[in-house]
Amino acid sequence: MPWKDLEAKKFASIRELNGISLRTMEEHYELYKGYIAKTNEIQKKLDTVDRSTANQIFSDLRALRIDLSFATGGVKNHEIYFGHLGGKGGTPAAKTMELIKRDFPSYDAWLADFKATGIAARGWVWLAYDHDWNILTTVAGDAQNTFPLWNATPILALDVYEHAYWIDYGRARAKYIEAFFNNLDWGVVEQNLERALAMEAVHK
Ligand SMILES: [Fe+2]
Repeated sequence: MPWKDLEAKKFASIRELNGISLRTMEEHYELYKGYIAKTNEIQKKLDTVDRSTANQIFSDLRALRIDLSFATGGVKNHEIYFGHLGGKGGTPAAKTMELIKRDFPSYDAWLADFKATGIAARGWVWLAYDHDWNILTTVAGDAQNTFPLWNATPILALDVYEHAYWIDYGRARAKYIEAFFNNLDWGVVEQNLERALAMEAVHK
C-alpha cells in the first residue's frame, strides 16, 4: 500500500510556558513539522527506490532506511514531549509515583538521576516502561534515533537538544530542565503509563 502522509498534530503547549518562551515553543514546533515532512518524503521514496542497487557502504535504500529512523524518531519523540507539556509541574500522579518508588531507590533519587541524565545525554532522556522486565527504566538518547530499547514504551520524554532551550537559557541546560518539570503535566504521563501497562510483551 502506498504511504499515507502523516499530518502534524496540534498541541495546546505551543504557547508561552512558565520559563519557556513562546518563541522557543513555536520554533520547536516548526522543527517537529520538519520531521513530519521528511518522514513523508522518505516513505514515498521508499515506495519506488531501486532495490537492485542496495549496498552496505552506500546505497539509496541504505540512506533512506537510516534517515527514516531519525525522522520517525523526531516525530514520535516530539509528540510525547509537546503532549505532556503545558501542565503545572508538581509530583507524579498515583500509579506513576507508585512505580517510580517501586523501581528506583526513591522518587527523589529517580528525579535527581533523570535530571543528571539530561545533562549527560546529547538529545533525549526518556522514562520508559519495559514490557519484558515489567519495570520503569531511564533511557538516554544522543539523537532522535538513539538508543531506544526494544519492547519498551516511553511515557515521559525530555528533549535536551540545544534547540529546546538555547533562546531562553543559553548554555544553562540545568535551568531549562527545571523549567521542563515546572511545566510537565503529570496527568498525561499517568495516562501514557496506563496505556503502556495495558500493552502485552511480545517476548514472554
Ligand atoms: Fe526537539
